[in-house]
Amino acid sequence: MTTSIETSMKKYVGDHQRLKYLFFGGKGGVGKTALAGATAIWLAKQGRRVMLASTNPVHSLSGLLGQNVFGKPTLVDGVPNLWAYEIDTKDTIERSKQEIRDKIQWFLKFADISTKAEEFVESATMNPAFEESAMFENMVDLMLGGEYDVYVFDTAPTANARRLLGMSQVYSLWVNKMLKSRDDARSLRELLSFTKKKEKDPLMDYLVTFRDRMGKAREMLTDSAQTAFFFVTLPEALPIAVITRFIGWFHDFGIPVGGVIVNMIIDKKQVNDKSPDFVKNRVAMQDRYMTEVWEKFEGMVRANLPLYEKEVRGLETLTTMADNLFV
Ligand SMILES: Nc1ncnc2c1ncn2[C@@H]1O[C@H](COP(=O)(O)OP(=O)(O)OP(=O)(O)O)[C@@H](O)[C@H]1O
Ligand SMILES: [Mg+2]
Repeated sequence: MTTSIETSMKKYVGDHQRLKYLFFGGKGGVGKTALAGATAIWLAKQGRRVMLASTNPVHSLSGLLGQNVFGKPTLVDGVPNLWAYEIDTKDTIERSKQEIRDKIQWFLKFADISTKAEEFVESATMNPAFEESAMFENMVDLMLGGEYDVYVFDTAPTANARRLLGMSQVYSLWVNKMLKSRDDARSLRELLSFTKKKEKDPLMDYLVTFRDRMGKAREMLTDSAQTAFFFVTLPEALPIAVITRFIGWFHDFGIPVGGVIVNMIIDKKQVNDKSPDFVKNRVAMQDRYMTEVWEKFEGMVRANLPLYEKEVRGLETLTTMADNLFV
């Protein structure tokens, strides 16, 4: 077991010159948003055009940066080359619902079924996975837009990426099958119709676009030259357990894991015999879990960050964090 960092965050980024999509995953409250912000600032300072984006409906980028970045890509005051963007998920969900409503209406008309589309729309959209997939689509849109050199996503769609990739084969089988039956139905209809004119088929167009976007997203997300997921943990049992599980899934699905960042480590230099028991006990606990971290994530630890006196908010503390992250 080695107990030092072999490949630091800085070296990892330096070794991956084409790295374009960075994600931060981990248990709630471990510092994903702060670390995404710090990373984006550091990358922007290297002269790259950086997009720091969040698809989380409970946004925190505006709070982190002390600037309103909701609803549109916004240049961050005081950091050239850095844009931040809290994507309006409510808006996307409404748009997705409308799209589905249009498709279903078209299909019902096409199949001569006289039922109200609304019932189908409700059942298609009234589940939590719909919201999640709308957010995922938002993210893919931004990634495919290609306006920036680097994209740092605050919300790691961990479960989502895993599901997407796990399902992608099923998706493409399903879409191909749908396409085939849509094709058959269309030629039958054309055969029976008097006019014989070729009809535009929006459902088919949608399926083809959907399949292609899935394919592209899969390609990007599984390319270790372009994509890296960083997992944030604290030296504590539950956050370690959470990322152990995530990393296992990601390996199974071939999603590139950039490494592990350990956050909120108490600075031992500030602790001595006279320190309160509470502090000494916590330091001892962190020590025990650091042993576990080194063992479990051998060769994958990219940075160890201290617990700061204050919360990480605003450019000044973020820059300090960035400097500690990219040493
Ligand atoms: N190294 C640190 N030292 C001190 N405070 C920190 C540190 N890292 C993060 N924080 C603070 O801890 C809190 C949680 O951090 P953050 O919001 O980045 O976590 P998160 O993983 O994004 O949480 P969520 O899961 O809710 O999105 C914030 O108040 C942040 O300022
Ligand atoms: Mg967060």
